[in-house]
Amino acid sequence: MIRPILVVGNPVLRGKARRVSQVDRSIQKLIDDMIETMKQAPGVGLAAPQVGVPLRLAVLDVDDQITVIVNPEIIKKIGEVELDEGCLSVPGFWGRLNRAERVSVKAQDRNGKDFRIRDAEGLFAQALQHEIDHLDGHLYIDRMETLDKLQRSEPVRKREADAAAARRAAGETVDEEEEAEEPA
Ligand code: NI
Repeated sequence: MIRPILVVGNPVLRGKARRVSQVDRSIQKLIDDMIETMKQAPGVGLAAPQVGVPLRLAVLDVDDQITVIVNPEIIKKIGEVELDEGCLSVPGFWGRLNRAERVSVKAQDRNGKDFRIRDAEGLFAQALQHEIDHLDGHLYIDRMETLDKLQRSEPVRKREADAAAARRAAGETVDEEEEAEEPA
């Protein structure tokens, strides 16, 4: 079941989510709904507070791999990188911010079993940090130096589409994957 995604201004997005005490059937149903909602959006990640459930749980979809993290904790951070980021709860915008380059996370899976993600990097590392932030009521816009740097997605998409059209007109091949990154 696809659930509605809350947008910035809703107080559930700003609260500290509670730990999941037991991964039971109702939690597994929530996980399935969140995966379906994330894919339909589409997004690279979705945290339970984004669908109005204040629990420490998130799902990620990076490189066609679904990851479920219940009660996740970042146990190691390495380096720092500047990245562009968006969020399904802040529709129509993206911004530039700093994140750790690599992270290790401990969590439980969809069966309540403990597991670790060691030295995640790239988009996976970024999405893990973004989703775990949601569980503490933080949005990526809080991590930006200034909201003056917040950009609207549509004009960027249009600019990229125009540039791609110009390259096509010039006889160049254009990679259709050159789209704006999906939000989380
Ligand atoms: Ni988000």
